[in-house]
Amino acid sequence: MLILSIKGEIVMDRMDWTRPNWHCDSGPADTSADAALVYDDDVKAETDHLYERVKDVILPDEWPVYAPLIAAINRLKKERGAIILAHNYMTPEIFNCVGDLSGDSLALARMAADVEEDIIVQAGVHFMAETAKIMCPDKTVLIPDMRAGCSLAESITGEDVAAIKAKYPDYPIVTYVNTSAAVKAEADVCCTSGNAVQVVEWAAKEWGTDTVILIPDEFLARNVAANTDIRILTWKGACEVHERFTAEDVEALREGHPGVVVLTHPESPVDVVRAADYAGSTAGMAAWVKNNRPAKVVLLTECSMSDNVAIENPGVKFVRPCNLCPHMKRITLQNIYDALRYNRHEVEVDETTAARARISIQRMLDLPKPDSPAQFDKDRAPVEVELV
Ligand code: 13P
Ligand code: SF4
Repeated sequence: MLILSIKGEIVMDRMDWTRPNWHCDSGPADTSADAALVYDDDVKAETDHLYERVKDVILPDEWPVYAPLIAAINRLKKERGAIILAHNYMTPEIFNCVGDLSGDSLALARMAADVEEDIIVQAGVHFMAETAKIMCPDKTVLIPDMRAGCSLAESITGEDVAAIKAKYPDYPIVTYVNTSAAVKAEADVCCTSGNAVQVVEWAAKEWGTDTVILIPDEFLARNVAANTDIRILTWKGACEVHERFTAEDVEALREGHPGVVVLTHPESPVDVVRAADYAGSTAGMAAWVKNNRPAKVVLLTECSMSDNVAIENPGVKFVRPCNLCPHMKRITLQNIYDALRYNRHEVEVDETTAARARISIQRMLDLPKPDSPAQFDKDRAPVEVELV
C-alpha cells in the first residue's frame, strides 16, 4: 500500500516501514531464535483470530511475515510478565495484535501509573516510556528503539525551562507531556492535548494569575489560547507531523472529496483547526468517528491512525492523505520482540529528576477526569500569543 503525504507525494510504501527488521537497532541478530519464527500450522492457529481483526488493512501476503513475530511476542509477554502499552500512532499489526493497552498520551500516562506487570514495553516514543518510568520507578520500562524521539521533546531543555522560570517567576509553567523528564522536572504541571485547556485554567486559578506559560508547542498554545480567557505565553516548538498541514490542504480535500468530514489534532496550525470540522487528541478523533459515524472522513494526523480507527468503524470511508511520524515508525514487531527477548532498551531516569517530574505529572493526573476527550472549539477567533 502506498502512503501519500498531504501534498499527494508518495512518502513511503507501507511495506517499507512495517516490514519486520526495518530500522532495527537492536544489536546482533540471534539467527538461531529467528530461524524458529516461521509461519507454520501452530502459528496460524494462534494468530488466525488476530488476522480477522486486521484483515481490511493488512494484505493476506503480508500476514505470514507478521504472524510468527506476533505469536512469539504474545508468548514472551506471558512468560516474562510483561505488558505492551501502544500509542494510537502504532502500525495496525502492533496496535491490534500485540498491544495490551492503547490510547492517547493522557490515557497511556494514566495506564502506566496503574500497571501491575513488572515489565512495561512502550510501543510509542521515548517521552512516553520516560513518563511510564517516572510513574513506576520500580518497574522495568523498555523502549524497542532508543531513537524513537519527538521534534517537540527535542525543541526545549530543562535549562531552557529554568531560564523561563527565572524570567517569569510569577507565572505557572505548564509543559506538554511531549517533553523530557528534565523539562517536566523544571515545570509546574504537565498537560496533554486531551486536557490542555483544563490544566491551563487550573494552573491560573492555583497560582492566582491571568497568565500561564504553556510550552513547548506553539500551535497547541495558540489553539489553547483561542479556547480560554487566560493569557498564554509559549515557546517556538512544533510537531513535525502536524505543522505541515495547511488550511489550503483542508480546502483541497473538501473539493476533491465532497462531503468529507475533516478531523485534526491541536498540534496543527490554528487556521487548520479553524478549517477542520473537529480538533482533539488522538483519542478524541477516534471517539468522534465512533460516535458520529460519518460516511467519509479524513484524519489529518499521523498515518497509522486511519488504519486503527478504520478497524473499529467498518462502513466509514477513510480518505488517506496523512503525514508519517518517523519516530513512531521506528517501533516495529521485530524490535518489540527483541526488547522482550533481550530486555532492551531499558529506560532510566535519575531519581532526583524523576521525583520532581512526578509532581508535574501527578498534578495533571489528579485533575478530574472528563467524561469525554476535550474538543477544541474551532469557531473561536485566534488571539495574540507571545513567545517567551
Ligand atoms: P495524543 O495521542 O495525546 O493526542 O498525542 C499525539 C501525539 O502526537 C503524540 O506524540
Ligand atoms: Fe512528536 Fe509529532 Fe511524532 Fe507525536 S507525531 S511523536 S508530537 S513528532
